[in-house]
Formats: sequence, C-alpha cells, structure tokens
Amino acid sequence: MHRSPATEIKVWDIPVRLFHWSFASCFFIAYITEDDFLSLHNNAGYAILGLILFRLTWGFIGTKHARFSDFIQPPSTVVAYIKQVISFRAKRYLGHNPAGGAMVFALLLALTLTCLTGLATYGAEQSAGPLADFMRTQPIAIGKAAEELHEFLANFTLLLILFHIAGVLVASFQHGENLIRSMFTGRKQLTD
Ligand code: HEM
Repeated sequence: MHRSPATEIKVWDIPVRLFHWSFASCFFIAYITEDDFLSLHNNAGYAILGLILFRLTWGFIGTKHARFSDFIQPPSTVVAYIKQVISFRAKRYLGHNPAGGAMVFALLLALTLTCLTGLATYGAEQSAGPLADFMRTQPIAIGKAAEELHEFLANFTLLLILFHIAGVLVASFQHGENLIRSMFTGRKQLTD
C-alpha cells in the first residue's frame, strides 16, 4: 500500500526533541572536558541540571507522549517487555516502550546524582559553587569520596547511554522504523 505523509503523526513535541539533543550534547561535552576545561565542564553540568528540572516539569505538563504517565511502567511490565524483545515478540509502542521508559528514569536519576556529586567535588576542591559553604564544614575524606563517586557515576551513565543507544537500534530493527529520525522530526508512522 502507498504510504502518504498523512499516515505519520506527531509523537515527540519540540521541547522533548530540543531537550533530548541538548541533554546528549551537554553530557558529551561534560564527559570529554573533565578537569582540563573546568569552566566548560561546570557549565555543561549546570545546563544538565537545568535540563533535568525542565524535563521533570514537562513530564507532568507536556504533550501526551512526553508525560511520565504515558511511559513509566512497573518493573514487572519492564521485565516482561524485555523478555518479549528477546523472543522477537515485542509489541510496538508509539511513545516510549516500557524498557525505554525505565531508561529515561535511569538516565535522569544517574545524571542528577552525577551533577550533585560534581557540585560537592567543586565545593570541596575549589571552594566554589553552591555547595562550597557546606563542603567547607566536611572532612577532607568526604570531598574525596564525592570525587570518586562523581567519576564512577559519569562512567556508569556512559554505560547506560550505550545500552540506551543499543535499545533504540534493536527497537528500530524489530519494528522496521527509524527511531533516531523520529527524535529529529518528532513524527512516526501511525500504523505498520
Ligand atoms: C547519539 C546518541 C543518541 C541517540 C541516537 C539517541 C536516540 C534516542 C531516541 C531515538 C530516543 C527515543 C526513543 C523512543 O523512540 O522511545 C531517545 C530518547 C531519550 N534519550 Fe537518547 N539518544 C542518544 C543519546 C542520548 C544521551 C547521551 C542521553 C543522555 C545524556 C540520552 C537521553 C535520552 C532521554 C532522557 C530520552 C527520553 C526523551 C524524552 O522523553 O524526553 N540520549 N534517544
């Protein structure tokens, strides 16, 4: 059957798409700059925190598929979905599938913790940033622990991102659609 553009519908609103590519860019900037370009690194971190606050808000007031209620599922549903993916029986979702929804939650949480431990490290080592006063009252070991944890969380987030991209590719392959393109255009085919 001939597919007209009318069979495509808008799934991702502009704020979700802008959020996504800004979030991804800021993460990569922060990850590669580290200590060498501290001010760029810090600014990317602040931008990530701002983006997270935006996404948490948009998850309640955004359009249908941007809302957490559209894609946050109980762990049992996520596990059942992953089993379906493994046996090539997974249902197609217009918004995030249950595993994708869990990954959104994991990425937002991992980056929140990465940024908070980054602020603690900055406060301890440079006596600067919003946590400087608090970190001055803490033993040196706490500052060191924050730094270790910050590094661990950044690497853990990178691992999650690799799984995220793998998940996007697997879902695209199983349903014969280009999900990456949809994150640019905001559109998906309504039916198969
Ligand atoms: C080149 C690398 C990346 C590609 C190709 C990519 C692709 C995608 C795609 C296609 C989706 C929509 C999935 C769906 O259809 O359900 C998505 C969602 C998402 N991605 Fe990525 N992604 C990339 C990097 C990242 C990075 C680095 C992060 C985090 C720092 C990230 C965080 C997210 C989040 C939070 C969502 C949910 C979007 C929302 O609902 O707001 N992505 N990504």
